[in-house]
Amino acid sequence: MKLRPATPADIPTLERWDTKAHVIACTGADDAPDWAGELEQVGPWYECLIGEVGGRPVGVVQIIDPAEEPTHYWGDCGPGLRAIDIWIGEEADLGRGLGTLMMGQAIGRCFAPAEVRAILIDPLMSNVRAQVFYRRLGFEDVGTRRFGEDDCLVMRLERSAWAAQSSLKE
Ligand SMILES: CC(C)(COP(=O)(O)OP(=O)(O)OC[C@H]1O[C@@H](n2cnc3c(N)ncnc32)[C@H](O)[C@@H]1OP(=O)(O)O)[C@@H](O)C(=O)NCCC(=O)NCCS
Repeated sequence: MKLRPATPADIPTLERWDTKAHVIACTGADDAPDWAGELEQVGPWYECLIGEVGGRPVGVVQIIDPAEEPTHYWGDCGPGLRAIDIWIGEEADLGRGLGTLMMGQAIGRCFAPAEVRAILIDPLMSNVRAQVFYRRLGFEDVGTRRFGEDDCLVMRLERSAWAAQSSLKE
């Protein structure tokens, strides 16, 4: 598994994935992204990464600094945090361990700067399988929160929890 920056050449793939039922189901009331516009936003507070296996794109992960993201989607949450969004593109690639590999790398990237204390994630309340997936990675439930028209479960992974878990794996 390799994570690499998404480029304009990935837009047709990203748009195709946006039509998939499992992707639509996890995005709630939000419209499908305008990918050209999204990729123009990449910079100090936003990374958009493609997960590739053997050169084949299998999923996408977005990492933001919620304090710097201009819409302040996460509210006034202060520095030292990151927020992640992830999905696998093709149905046939779900449940094969690829998401776990992508998240392992994305989490490592988030915690690379020493000032990052924790990572936030906001699956829909209805997306119980994703919540199980995140708990398995060490995320803990913070509480429910309404983002726009969506009821979400805010989950949080502390640096210390990840460090303890990674050292167990070594
Ligand atoms: C959540 C997701 C990224 C996990 O990646 P993955 O490669 O499928 O997961 P892994 O094979 O590493 O781990 C398996 C676990 O993922 C979760 N999972 C599997 N398929 C899923 C699906 N269609 N939707 C949500 N979670 C799923 C389950 O917890 C599963 O564990 P289980 O088999 O014991 O039920 C991926 O399933 C996905 O893209 N789901 C749809 C979109 C989504 O829900 N994204 C998260 C938005 S917050």
